[in-house]
Amino acid sequence: MARTLVLGIESTAHTASVGVASSGGRGGAFRVLSNRSAVWRPPKGGIHPREAANAHAESLPGLIRGALGDARAKARDMSAVAFAQGPGLGPCLRTGASAARALALTAGVPLVGVNHCVAHLEVGRALLGCEDPVLLYASGGNTQVIAFAGGRYRVFGETLDIGVGNMLDKFGREAGLPFPAGPAIERLASRGSKLLPLPYSVKGMDVAYSGMLTAALQMRRDGERMEDIALSIQEVAFAMLVEVAERAMAHVGRDELLLGGGVAANARLVEMAGTMARERGAESFVPERRFCVDNGAMIAVLGAMMLGAGVTTPVGGSAVRQRFRTDEVEVSWR
Ligand code: ATP
Ligand code: FE2
Repeated sequence: MARTLVLGIESTAHTASVGVASSGGRGGAFRVLSNRSAVWRPPKGGIHPREAANAHAESLPGLIRGALGDARAKARDMSAVAFAQGPGLGPCLRTGASAARALALTAGVPLVGVNHCVAHLEVGRALLGCEDPVLLYASGGNTQVIAFAGGRYRVFGETLDIGVGNMLDKFGREAGLPFPAGPAIERLASRGSKLLPLPYSVKGMDVAYSGMLTAALQMRRDGERMEDIALSIQEVAFAMLVEVAERAMAHVGRDELLLGGGVAANARLVEMAGTMARERGAESFVPERRFCVDNGAMIAVLGAMMLGAGVTTPVGGSAVRQRFRTDEVEVSWR
């Protein structure tokens, strides 16, 4: 099988990232040859899409040059240029898409527009060797439980309000923790000792986090220790995630669980997911942190899979899709 080399561009939110992946050749396996990122951090408050997009426009050319250098290749050596077509923030998506179009056109290679959420799943399948997992995708903007059924990746459960990472970051902002707050909350939680009662909100395979956010902020005003609040947030928020993931695994009859998204960097979530999987005779897979957070390598990997199945995106069809749903993607590559 000929070697496929794909450059992937990620720019759905605060991270601009460029990866290069190869597939085929000897062994046919996927390899990541480069994965370079620049994370835009808001000076204060939440993400400003246009400011983030401006930062991405500045960082992408250098990231692309660096990634090609890592892969010891030129743009014209690429089999395709892949980019995250959605879902995400309009200005950020458009910046990445413009870079991808320009690169593909000058190099004379095809474009492949990929779904960001599907890429989180496929990078785990490609690099960790799980075959047909239920994906627990827990990031700032997204919290979904996804599995393959009837030729598509289907969302079996999701947050009904804010993403779990968003809840952590909003709590952190009010409580004066550095952004993103996930790592700071994890450190605090390791010194916590008391489990405080926070609302546990699971409906079927869906979850909700705004009630927990309000309650945790109230506990802080009531003078509870930050360490105990952090511990309680983690225990309750992650128990909810693990419960819906387990329900999805039982529902679709799968014995592999794959974690993805920035919150999967949390050791307590990894531990709880591993315990659940073990107890039902299943296996839990966790990508390296750099492949859990938003990254260009996962876009390159999915681009290579799609290209292998003959899927490319004409420039005329490459407009970004802010609300690109996971189950809109026709999965012809597996
Ligand atoms: P998406 O666009 O897919 O929604 P994102 O923009 O939120 O993703 P990611 O890099 O996937 O970006 O995830 C960032 C989130 O992960 C932040 O909310 C951050 O607080 C959280 N996070 C990072 N490290 C940890 C950790 N150790 N524990 C808990 N949460 C973490
Ligand atoms: Fe993501």
